[in-house]
Amino acid sequence: MKAIIYYFTGTGNSLAAAKKIAALLGDCELVPIASLQDTPGEITPAADRVGIVCPVYDAGIPVIVAEFARRLNLSRAGYVFGIVTLGGIGASALHQLNDLLRKRQDRGLDAAFVVKMPGNFPLVGKTAPWEKQQVILQTADACLMEIAGVAGA
Ligand SMILES: Cc1cc2nc3c(=O)[nH]c(=O)nc-3n(C[C@H](O)[C@H](O)[C@H](O)COP(=O)(O)O)c2cc1C
Repeated sequence: MKAIIYYFTGTGNSLAAAKKIAALLGDCELVPIASLQDTPGEITPAADRVGIVCPVYDAGIPVIVAEFARRLNLSRAGYVFGIVTLGGIGASALHQLNDLLRKRQDRGLDAAFVVKMPGNFPLVGKTAPWEKQQVILQTADACLMEIAGVAGA
């Protein structure tokens, strides 16, 4: 298999991003991180390209993604990329992800990307009006095309 993308999504933004990248890469399996939560032991993807896609929660990665990253064995991966979707700020979540991977083994992310999506946390910011969301989504789409170009090269 050429690629495997592990994703976590709360409201669908990161799933949409993961699906788009998978479609553009081709020969790519999409695996929900939630489906691995109750499985024991380490996770060793057998794919040349390994992607991790998730939202930013409170300027970090969601706890379930952090727990997943602590179990990820990248010894068979040729290229590893991370993508966070966010509503505003919090790209440092990618450093957190990279650090977690590096704690476990002598390698982390080869590339890291941020995709701005509609915010989904009204406690932090008002939901953008529909028209503005369309613009955000179009920009995200273009961004994902670029990312796939880099991640698939
Ligand atoms: C609990 C929670 C915390 C969030 N914290 C941040 C944040 O720190 N920075 C940010 O830009 N967006 C934040 N967001 C917005 C999400 O990262 C953003 O909308 C993301 O695209 C949602 O992806 P999803 O639909 O895959 O869950 C937060 C959302 C939730 C629900």
